[in-house]
Amino acid sequence: MRPVVVAANWKMNTTPGDAGELARTIAARTVVEGPVERVICPPFVCLAAVGDALRGTGVAVGAQDVHHELSGAYTGAISAPMLAGLASWVIVGHSERRRDARETDELIGRKLHRAAEAGLRPIVCVGEQLAEREAGRADRVVRDQVAGILAAFAADPTALATSRLVVAYEPVWAIGTGRNARGSDASAMAETIRDAIAAAGWPALAPAVPVLYGGSVTAANIGEFLAEPAIDGALVGGASLKPDEMAGIVARAGLTASARVGTGG
Ligand code: 13P
Repeated sequence: MRPVVVAANWKMNTTPGDAGELARTIAARTVVEGPVERVICPPFVCLAAVGDALRGTGVAVGAQDVHHELSGAYTGAISAPMLAGLASWVIVGHSERRRDARETDELIGRKLHRAAEAGLRPIVCVGEQLAEREAGRADRVVRDQVAGILAAFAADPTALATSRLVVAYEPVWAIGTGRNARGSDASAMAETIRDAIAAAGWPALAPAVPVLYGGSVTAANIGEFLAEPAIDGALVGGASLKPDEMAGIVARAGLTASARVGTGG
């Protein structure tokens, strides 16, 4: 059975001075009965403060990116070994990094490989642009992203199989826009993603990979996504900075997690 995961992507928000307090508040407001994995991904410079604040709460800490090399002349970059003790999860391939840092599927694959080697649990982001969806190409685009990223494991398939991979489907047109995918479309895409993982050479892994939805998720709309059995949680941006929103989102996720445990599915 796949876990239910709610991950907070704080993006370029908070400082080392205020991040711990926000993390502590969110942890306290998101204690639920159901088995929900909660993760907070603050900026790199806030990882230590957030880690201190979350100790003993059951909420995990994640980084928002990781470099594709282990060390060297890469000014400003952070590698997987540097995150040891600071983060246990990492977001890889967010569309804002594809946009701003020109990250490609090939580079994202190398980052994913580094995360897996370091034992960081990866959340890999995929998703189409609006024009691609309108042209009926969303499915093809996401399949190609998955194949392009997983090609990094062609010579080391076990590293992916043991990485505890999580995929976030984040349609680019839904990020920060207040627009959502329909639950049914997100569900279809989750199946596409698992299909692409199987087709890339990991048929046994594919059905076990949690797929999260991301894109303007709020406490008010999370229910539509979690009602879909193919969707296993959310990667939350703007709303993840608001304790009230996180409380509502995780409460709803808790109901889903309890129900899925109850039905064994
Ligand atoms: P928003 O929830 O702000 O749309 O951001 C989604 C996202 O990009 C999470 O990674």
